Amino acid sequence: MSKSPNLFLPALGGAALILGAGYGIATNQWADSKVTAMESTVAAAKAEAEKVAEMASAEVARATELEARALEIQNEAKRQLASAGGALIREPAPVAAEGYGLGRTALPEEIAAWDVDVLPDGRGLPEGRGDVFTGEEVFAEICASCHGDFAEGVDNWPVLAGGFDTLDDKDPVKTVGSYWPYLSTVWDYVHRSMPFGNAQTVTADETYAIVAYILYSNDMVDEDFELSHENFREFTMYNADGFIVDDRAETEYPIWRTEPCMENCKDGVEITMRASVLDVTPEEETGMAEEEDHAATEVASTDTTVVAAADPALIEAGEKAFKKCQACHQIGEGAANKTGPHLNGIMGRTIGGMDGFSYSNVFKAAAEEGQVWDEEAMTAFLTKPRDYMEGTKMAFAGFKKPEDIDAIIAYLKSEGR
Ligand code: HEC
Ligand code: HEC
Repeated sequence: MSKSPNLFLPALGGAALILGAGYGIATNQWADSKVTAMESTVAAAKAEAEKVAEMASAEVARATELEARALEIQNEAKRQLASAGGALIREPAPVAAEGYGLGRTALPEEIAAWDVDVLPDGRGLPEGRGDVFTGEEVFAEICASCHGDFAEGVDNWPVLAGGFDTLDDKDPVKTVGSYWPYLSTVWDYVHRSMPFGNAQTVTADETYAIVAYILYSNDMVDEDFELSHENFREFTMYNADGFIVDDRAETEYPIWRTEPCMENCKDGVEITMRASVLDVTPEEETGMAEEEDHAATEVASTDTTVVAAADPALIEAGEKAFKKCQACHQIGEGAANKTGPHLNGIMGRTIGGMDGFSYSNVFKAAAEEGQVWDEEAMTAFLTKPRDYMEGTKMAFAGFKKPEDIDAIIAYLKSEGR
């Protein structure tokens, strides 16, 4: 649905003016470079020459036409701006100061076609009005087949009314009435995307009327109610205060992310490794009996000592094998990220989880999924890094001998916990 410039210019105001001004210059350069490009093509492929020349002249003609149009819009914008006396609904959009010689400036019509959003404070609403009665008629005609005559929803199509006081139920009925915090969302949603399959065919006045009728269906207004751009802001929705800003990242995450206390244990307890590394947590769901079993052994082992079943000879072999990794990885006290991330505490850690290291996408994806380095994953990775993590930037072909991998894993566990 393209709108005529007279309609949208008062709204876009300054933005249109600035876009319009930039437009003439952009068009000239664009046309020039286009012609140059065309000319070299002509020289290179004589057979194509005639066709290309024809296209070029069509482009130039189109450019000239657009330029004239831009000038027209620009003058109209100036006129509108003067008569609007500066009382504009919208702030002008920021305009990039420099051109990059790419594409062309969007036409005001193109911007207007996208720029249909309505904000909670009513910005973006076009002028118009509609009452419950009209809304009921329009709704019956183009909405009720799916949403029901009373917005109660046909079959599984969304219900738009009712459900108040169900939001804390196990199965809340979230409707426009019970759930939506802003009326602007209803207006915008209906105007932008309904009727389903035939979006953006509802006029502004019809939308006001439909929204009034949806409010009426929710018992939120009387039957003689009329909604317009003038009284729109006065309306407060039932669930307006039901949404909060999610601040858990600041208030809660730190509580769960503190480093575990690894000191001041009671006499006789020596910490050798984290439980997650030792793999004492059952991976799959286990029966109750087995879980209790685990609990029992855990208690028993904390009472004595958590000892890794680590073989010193294996660790030593691992240290040797790690020479192949040292060019890129550090491990142990003071280890830092180099070409590869440092590998302290790597076993049991999230894959791609070292802060401050710039991983490849495949690692980022694994981190997002919360994948963890257990023995199985590490063995597969070190056998053929590029197969296991397709697209990894780790330039290491892999170990041929499984013993080397066992040794490395033992070493990784023993070093730099
Ligand atoms: C052909 C069936 C159909 C018609 C006709 C239709 N809708 Fe819808 N409507 C849907 C579907 C499907 C959804 C859910 C869309 C989604 O979730 O992506 C929906 C969603 C909605 C919602 C959001 C409901 C919610 O709680 O998320 C509103 C409001 C709405 N429609 C209003 C209208 C209005 C007003 C009309 C008439 C102008 C209309 N619809 C016509 C099928 C229809
Ligand atoms: C040529 C440099 C290089 C060598 C050699 C190398 N790596 Fe890597 N390694 C990297 C890079 C780079 C990454 C990050 C991978 C990515 O983002 O795709 C990485 C990632 C890893 C990771 C995952 C780290 C994490 O935070 O999830 C492990 C484990 C690892 N390497 C172990 C080893 C081992 C063991 C060796 C020796 C056998 C080795 N690497 C050899 C460069 C190297």
